[in-house]
Amino acid sequence: MKTILITGGAGFIGANFVKYILNASNEYFVVNLDLLTYAGNLENLADIKDNPRHVFVKGDIRDYYLVNKLFDEYQFDTVVNFAAETHVDRSIIEPGTFLTTNIIGTQTLLEAALRHWNLNPDDKHCREYRHGVKFLQISTDEVYGSLGESGLFSETTPLSPNNPYSASKASADMLVRAYHKTYGLPVNITRCSNNYGPYQTPDKLIPLVINKCRLNKPVPVYGDGLQIRDWLYVYDHCSAIQTVLLKGVDGEVYNIGGNNEKTNIEIVKLIIKAMNKREALITYVKDRPGHDRRYAMENTKITTQLGWKPKYTFEEGISKTIEWYLENKEWLEKVSSKNYSDYYSKLYSFS
Ligand code: NAD
Ligand code: TYD
Repeated sequence: MKTILITGGAGFIGANFVKYILNASNEYFVVNLDLLTYAGNLENLADIKDNPRHVFVKGDIRDYYLVNKLFDEYQFDTVVNFAAETHVDRSIIEPGTFLTTNIIGTQTLLEAALRHWNLNPDDKHCREYRHGVKFLQISTDEVYGSLGESGLFSETTPLSPNNPYSASKASADMLVRAYHKTYGLPVNITRCSNNYGPYQTPDKLIPLVINKCRLNKPVPVYGDGLQIRDWLYVYDHCSAIQTVLLKGVDGEVYNIGGNNEKTNIEIVKLIIKAMNKREALITYVKDRPGHDRRYAMENTKITTQLGWKPKYTFEEGISKTIEWYLENKEWLEKVSSKNYSDYYSKLYSFS
């Protein structure tokens, strides 16, 4: 049995991953540590609440005492760190929590992993670890900054973050690298492109557009709407993470992307059409400050060295996603309630 600490497992990708890994094999026991911020939601885990291989703990990755207690109690072999503040627009309004959760929280987990896995934790020169342990940091393509009209981010592209969210994620990546280089901690970093799928909070583009269309409300498009993102269905991100856990070479970074570049306006129009709504809902609003123009991933390292490839085309993924949100209106309504209304009123005058 492998015992995994999954942090942020009540959020969008984390919740999808917890279920994915429990289904993938009976060999995994999951401890899910999540602070349940506005983005964390126990309803995302309702279908596994009685699963004996899943334990939920409400708590903070910045809490060194709690994290160490969990390591003592469960003797983890693996840590997968999803926990983060993740929304670029929120990071522009309130950057502070992004720095403490994304940077200090990651360092807290790294230090606990080192203390529990190192064969001689009192000697910072000891580079020997318990067999089979791994710290996997879930990072993002946004750490590379913004691309022009051509080119792709590769794992060797210099980090060049442009907003407080991506700067905090890049800082965390640097710390993970440093724990590997300095102390020999067995780590991997994955950097994925934009995800979409079930359980994503409607402050992110795709669920936001679906929700606004459903309610016949204006759909906000930042600037000219010609910014490009490389979209990946969340299930494919989960399978890539499992592949890295099984086959990743210690210390390596792996980019994960779907080779599916689309402009924001293309995405918006596609969803409007699929939902039989009118393009008149589209409302151009003031651009996001420091808005990255284009993200695109070179994913040949993970595809050729580890044998991963995405399973879903964008057409399949987006139609499953729209279907899921329409079938889960109550979920959408709950998460769009007060928390979001307050926040949206800070961002847009019309909502
Ligand atoms: P999310 O915002 O939906 O979920 C984040 C989760 O972390 C929430 O459940 C929240 O309660 C929890 N959390 C926040 N602060 C915490 C703390 N201090 N202690 C414990 N838990 C805390 O995020 P997501 O979209 O699922 O992203 C998960 C990870 O994947 C993040 O690290 C993000 O940077 C990365 N990522 C996301 C995308 C994407 O498109 N969403 C793409 C690439 C990488
Ligand atoms: P988002 O889902 O916030 O992801 P990220 O900023 O991490 O890429 O946004 C995706 C793109 O959509 C980004 O270019 C900003 C744009 N966007 C809008 O045009 N309108 C919106 O209301 C939102 C939330 C995003």
